[in-house]
Amino acid sequence: MTTEHPNSPQGYKTPVGILGVGHFVPEEILTNAELAKFVDTTDEWIVSRTGIRARRRATPEQATSDLAIEAGRRALEASGTRAEDIDLIIVATMTPDCPMPATSSIVQYKLGAARAAGFDLNIACSGFVYALITGAQFVASGTFRRVLVIGADCMTRLMNWKDRSTCVLFGDGAGAVVLGPVAAGYGIVGIHAGVNGAGGPSLTVNAGGSRLPSWSVGLDPADFYLKMEGPEVFRFAVSVMGEAALKALDNGGLTPEQVALFIPHQANARIIEASRKRLNLPPARVFSNVENYGNTSCGSVPLALSEALEQNRIQDGDLIVLVGFGGGLSWASAAIRWGGLQDS
Ligand code: ACO
Repeated sequence: MTTEHPNSPQGYKTPVGILGVGHFVPEEILTNAELAKFVDTTDEWIVSRTGIRARRRATPEQATSDLAIEAGRRALEASGTRAEDIDLIIVATMTPDCPMPATSSIVQYKLGAARAAGFDLNIACSGFVYALITGAQFVASGTFRRVLVIGADCMTRLMNWKDRSTCVLFGDGAGAVVLGPVAAGYGIVGIHAGVNGAGGPSLTVNAGGSRLPSWSVGLDPADFYLKMEGPEVFRFAVSVMGEAALKALDNGGLTPEQVALFIPHQANARIIEASRKRLNLPPARVFSNVENYGNTSCGSVPLALSEALEQNRIQDGDLIVLVGFGGGLSWASAAIRWGGLQDS
């Protein structure tokens, strides 16, 4: 038993790793220049404050499950897993197709994952990493062998196009991973998660739930859109992202010097740069695609992981760190030793 921390994944009964990854984004590319035709903004402002140059937008016919299903299908293929062998599907999203049925039920049916259990998990942009470490518990305990974890959001559906400080930041996208047992020493080796509910009011969608149902009298359409105290969330993000990475590493008895690739939530290039400095990592050891997609919320981290793999930025044996942060306010992180895949 090598447990440095009693609650570390090193204490998992079965080591749990990522067996395959996939992502999917809608076809339409909305560039800053196109956005500036109907929002009072400029490419120069958006790029200098956020690093974002374009984002994807779902068609009116596409919902979150459509993105989730395609990302899930690709992760299954990459891992060589048949849909009918999946035991559990977790969909992390803050933009479900509808309040009921859960998006995971729609995904389960359309993927043909006949044996799978499923549920949705909502903790805003931290959702994917929370879902990853939640799904891992089922594999670690021996309860399930194959868990499909999907992060997917149609954030453009929550945009108030009259609120220029927010609507330029977000886009639509999805990513997915298949979790399963891996060889000893590989897989998830350190985790951390937290919430600071006192900061909740700085990032909200006020209507559409039980406090302000959609049929409430006197609602303003803006109540259904995402509202954000940008500078306050910025300060939170800058302080939490590096700290969350350090805590996941420490939980696994590891240090930042050992990290081959840091894959943070893709919200803003300046936040990513601040956390890179906090971890004292060279730019080559940080992955970012915020330029092309903006903030895709739950899609962000798995979409970045998937593109990092496509670009050969991760090799077997590499230590990677994933960090999500967002509404709640919330955060979650996972340190993963890549590889260790076994037969079956
Ligand atoms: N185009 C042009 N001007 C703009 C725009 C825009 N799109 N948006 C705001 N401005 C103006 C403002 O009106 C303001 O003008 P003023 O000084 O005349 O009043 C000025 O630019 C500065 O505005 P700030 O809000 O102070 O700009 P800041 O440098 O803080 O950047 C930003 C704003 C990009 C939103 C930043 O605060 C940020 O990135 N915050 C964190 C966002 C984030 O990470 N969210 C994660 C959400 S995760 C989830 O769970 C959903």
